[in-house]
Amino acid sequence: MSKVTVVGAGNVGATCANVLAHKDVVKEVVLLDIKGDFAKGKALDTWEQAPIDYYSTKTVGTDNYADTAGSDIVVITAGIPRKPGMSRDDLISTNAKIVTMVTKSILEYSDNPIIIVVSNPLDVMTFAAFKAAGLPSNKVFGMAGILDTARYRAFLAEALEVSPKDIQAILMGGHGDTMVPLPRYTTVSGIPVTELIDGEKLNAIIERTKKGGGELVQLMGTSAWYAPGAAAAQMVETIVRDENRIFPCCAYVDGEYGLSDMFIGVPVKLGKNGIEEIIELQLNEDEKALLDTSADHVRQVMGVFNNMAL
Ligand code: NAI
Ligand code: 2OP
Repeated sequence: MSKVTVVGAGNVGATCANVLAHKDVVKEVVLLDIKGDFAKGKALDTWEQAPIDYYSTKTVGTDNYADTAGSDIVVITAGIPRKPGMSRDDLISTNAKIVTMVTKSILEYSDNPIIIVVSNPLDVMTFAAFKAAGLPSNKVFGMAGILDTARYRAFLAEALEVSPKDIQAILMGGHGDTMVPLPRYTTVSGIPVTELIDGEKLNAIIERTKKGGGELVQLMGTSAWYAPGAAAAQMVETIVRDENRIFPCCAYVDGEYGLSDMFIGVPVKLGKNGIEEIIELQLNEDEKALLDTSADHVRQVMGVFNNMAL
């Protein structure tokens, strides 16, 4: 696989393209934005960084979909981010139109790409891209779980005074305040996290994780981009390398976890075909109840999307 397009050259898209170039795993990254020469500038800046940071990936900026022709993977970050006081769901009417239009435009020039959605509200925007693309569900999915889990892992590393490298965790559900971090599936170099931290501290970290996106919006006046851009780039790398790594991703469920006809965060195996497999954990009653609550919330936002004229 050699060509990746990132649509939206704003904070998240430009970061994703830059991190991806540094990984040096693809031949070309095309960065596309509607804002005139903006994407050209961001791509040129990243290309000029190549001799310093030693990579060969060529980054090209454009506002013309013809330049995306033959893309193997497309990352969609186009849309508006939230401002303080807004939830991710408040973005739906603007971003659903953008994501639908972007997906259709991409498919005019690339036959069978893998599409990774980043725009919010994530679970429903992934559904919007899936509907617009008409591709099989293993080829359309969303980025949120890697970011949310990274926040959870970073907070745990800080509390335990250990390296974030050693924290392994899984988290499920929608990309919103109802997300479900799973302490039973959280370890520190194989040691169950519950043996290292007391329940009260762990609960505080879980609550902070759920509101992690909002914490950054409050601090910066717009949403985060370094960790989100890197998370999307990590998904691309895993697919390009056909690594079969297991990550929480926003995937189409068809009976798994008792859920169907929706996109929601679940553990998946990511490889050259996109989602190679959804992994079904043996959730206990409490965990399943939290996942069901999160799914209900995603369904409510889906209801708004389903009533929209696109
Ligand atoms: P941004 O405002 O910095 O960049 C968005 C870019 O999209 C702008 O450059 C804009 O010109 C472009 N754009 C708008 N309409 C377009 C169209 N029709 N075609 C091509 N480009 C178009 O926003 P940022 O911070 O990069 O966030 C992008 C999206 O990602 C937001 O919806 C945000 O909520 C979401 N997000 C999702 C995360 C996740 O975990 N899934 C994490 C962080 C952000
Ligand atoms: C985040 O979690 C806003 O979805 C974005 O940072």
